Amino acid sequence: MPLLAHASCGPRMPESCAVVTTGLTKRFGHRVAVDSLDLAIPEGSISGFVGPNGAGKTTTIRMLLGLMRPTAGSGTVLGYPLSQYKSYLAKVGALIEGPTFHPALSGWDNLAVLARLGGIASARIAEVLDRVGLGDRGHDPTRTYSLGMRQRLGIAAAMLPDPALLVLDEPTNGLDPHGIAEIRAMLRSFADEGRTVFVSSHLLTEIQQVCEHLVVIEGGHLVFQGSVAQLLASRAPELAVRTESPDDVDRLVALVRRHGHAATVSGRGAEATVTVSASCGWAGELNRLAMAEGMTLVHIAERHSTLEEAFFEITGSCTEESRERRTQAVHTETSDPPKVEEHTR
Ligand SMILES: Nc1ncnc2c1ncn2[C@@H]1O[C@H](COP(=O)(O)OP(=O)(O)OP(=O)(O)O)[C@@H](O)[C@H]1O
Ligand SMILES: [Mg+2]
Repeated sequence: MPLLAHASCGPRMPESCAVVTTGLTKRFGHRVAVDSLDLAIPEGSISGFVGPNGAGKTTTIRMLLGLMRPTAGSGTVLGYPLSQYKSYLAKVGALIEGPTFHPALSGWDNLAVLARLGGIASARIAEVLDRVGLGDRGHDPTRTYSLGMRQRLGIAAAMLPDPALLVLDEPTNGLDPHGIAEIRAMLRSFADEGRTVFVSSHLLTEIQQVCEHLVVIEGGHLVFQGSVAQLLASRAPELAVRTESPDDVDRLVALVRRHGHAATVSGRGAEATVTVSASCGWAGELNRLAMAEGMTLVHIAERHSTLEEAFFEITGSCTEESRERRTQAVHTETSDPPKVEEHTR
């Protein structure tokens, strides 16, 4: 799997990164869960940590929090080596794979236990409950909380130590779109206070809107690190082309391939669209070549991958559903003469 963008955390200034790792590796017997991961998480950013189920996100987070010893590699969190996790953990707030609380105790009481353990003033409890929108339910037993309320209580617990770095593992798991939007707004407000937020998800679309920086892993490997814009720019542009006569589709595919470009067909009959791996700079030439062979093109449009497609492409897990959506998106009926247009979705 190619590395699409190199780790970048400012102009090579380790002190501007909240988290840096080099060759971070974790093996469980023969299974390599995290494989030579080089991370560079810019300080003060919201960084998304994205990858499909089993990619190695939680394992990485556990190593960063001193909960698991790396098999190989090194790193720093807030400037301290991973081996000295006791030096930085007081400044790190974490939520890992769904919080668990004592069901008979209220949210307030659960946080009070954690505050006592962490030597944190109890005045902080009301502050963090308010912060996550649980101010009015803080004294109800947590067994009466909805899933979204439990997730928010988990974030409140992570915020107790007034952390410089907040590490949230799948905080939107199981939430509806409204709950996800609420968490996103919360993350934004935490970052606006100068905190670094490192948030994992197996769904890029859930967190990309709020992330300045993205780390994508698959099978324990880093496959992308950089901005959302860089991720999109890293995908090659394509042309969606339609012929006036459905009978010309196969001839068009052959013509495109003869000129060294890949071509695939989606849809059938009048709905058939040929996707050509070329930028719009080749559209005029394609139009002339097709005309010279007696084919009339009624639609040529440049399109770039959506973020979801880029994610599926680099993690190699494109679904039928996303292919279908992509096909539908380029099927715009037109009887106009051939034209080149930008399709950005
Ligand atoms: N304690 C363990 N013992 C053995 N294998 C483990 C252990 N923890 C994780 N793994 C394996 O490591 C790989 C990565 O798991 P991990 O939980 O880090 O993935 P993830 O990206 O967090 O996935 P998800 O999105 O499902 O939470 C998986 O193959 C998993 O089975
Ligand atoms: Mg996980």
